[in-house]
Amino acid sequence: MNQRVAERCERIEFSEIARIRNRILELGFEPPLHPLHGGEPFYETPEFITEAAIRALREHRTRYAPSSGIPELRAAIVEKVRRKNRIPAEPEHAIVTSGGLHGLFVAILATVNPGDEVLIFSPYWTPMKDLVALAGGRLRLVRWMEARQDGFRQALERHATSRSRLLLVNTPANPIGFVLTRDELCEIAEFARDRDLVVISDEAYEDLTFEAPHVSIASLPGMFERTLSVFTLSKSYAMTGWRVGYVVAPEPWMSGLRKLVLNTINVVSTPMQWAAVAALTEGEAFLEHARAAYRQRRDRLVQGLRALGFACDLPQGTFYAFPNVERVLGPKSWEAFDVLLKRAGVSTVPGVVFGPHGEGHLRFTFSVALETIDAALEAMRAAL
Ligand SMILES: Cc1ncc(COP(=O)(O)O)c(C=O)c1O
Repeated sequence: MNQRVAERCERIEFSEIARIRNRILELGFEPPLHPLHGGEPFYETPEFITEAAIRALREHRTRYAPSSGIPELRAAIVEKVRRKNRIPAEPEHAIVTSGGLHGLFVAILATVNPGDEVLIFSPYWTPMKDLVALAGGRLRLVRWMEARQDGFRQALERHATSRSRLLLVNTPANPIGFVLTRDELCEIAEFARDRDLVVISDEAYEDLTFEAPHVSIASLPGMFERTLSVFTLSKSYAMTGWRVGYVVAPEPWMSGLRKLVLNTINVVSTPMQWAAVAALTEGEAFLEHARAAYRQRRDRLVQGLRALGFACDLPQGTFYAFPNVERVLGPKSWEAFDVLLKRAGVSTVPGVVFGPHGEGHLRFTFSVALETIDAALEAMRAAL
């Protein structure tokens, strides 16, 4: 039986988002479809970033870059994380990756040994399960709600074992929209230090907070040395298709990351790195503007979902609302998804896609035009 895919591929799954897309196609959808299942910024990449990429192409800055990234981008990353994230990094602590998912991939492969247990707050962003499985690790789920109710330290104590090696932190959190406060992060950090855990911090939505500002766990005392902080330009600057991200970490992690980046992608596309320099050095004003637009969309969507009878917390960050829809649509989120799609033409993501604790919920994005939110709410009001 040589003609078989390697076992590791059988341990992982393909994105459920693809299944959602197929379901929409299967139903042979007649417009209007109100697409609220996506995970991308609603605006185009800002012009100054596109211009920087075009300039790099015109000037033939198109050869292999150093494998960890062009020095100008690594310098911009270090300046940004020191200023904005308060992470005490030096240039040798930054490596450029092909987006956030690749950053998470190399971070997990650099830290997890087969049999290690990985603590993660649940519901969680789905690919984390597959990345941990690929490394031979085992996930241990800590419910976000349990941690918020009982305290993070207590909830983590309850689920950790002697095999726990890594803690995954995602703030602002997809899909639940929570933003960890400084006090909560201090509790988590204390637990990680006491247990000698490594932390991978996924900060993909760092710029999308609406109430309290984002705090990076690597900025807390004694945490820089045990944390791999993973960032991406995808969400902040509407650059999902550009594939640029970065990881900030000290040794011994950086030596592992360098080998993994070299042996997976060699290096990120050079013109895209020049575009990233522009984004990180000139993008602050743009981010302010984007945040205000997101806040308006968040408030519009959440108000509408509540009026429909869904139990919906106000998301503190990200561009997702994650209401409990059981009272209106029943406990099974795939069935709830089907009802909204068939009756109202509204596409969402079933909460169970984000692990068992997401059951009973649906994820709606508010990263769309205001008219799309209004039309979707109107269609749901008419159908339910
Ligand atoms: C929580 C989270 N982390 C990381 C990423 C990675 O994004 P990208 O690979 O586009 O940089 C995403 C994208 O949806 C995400 O939702």
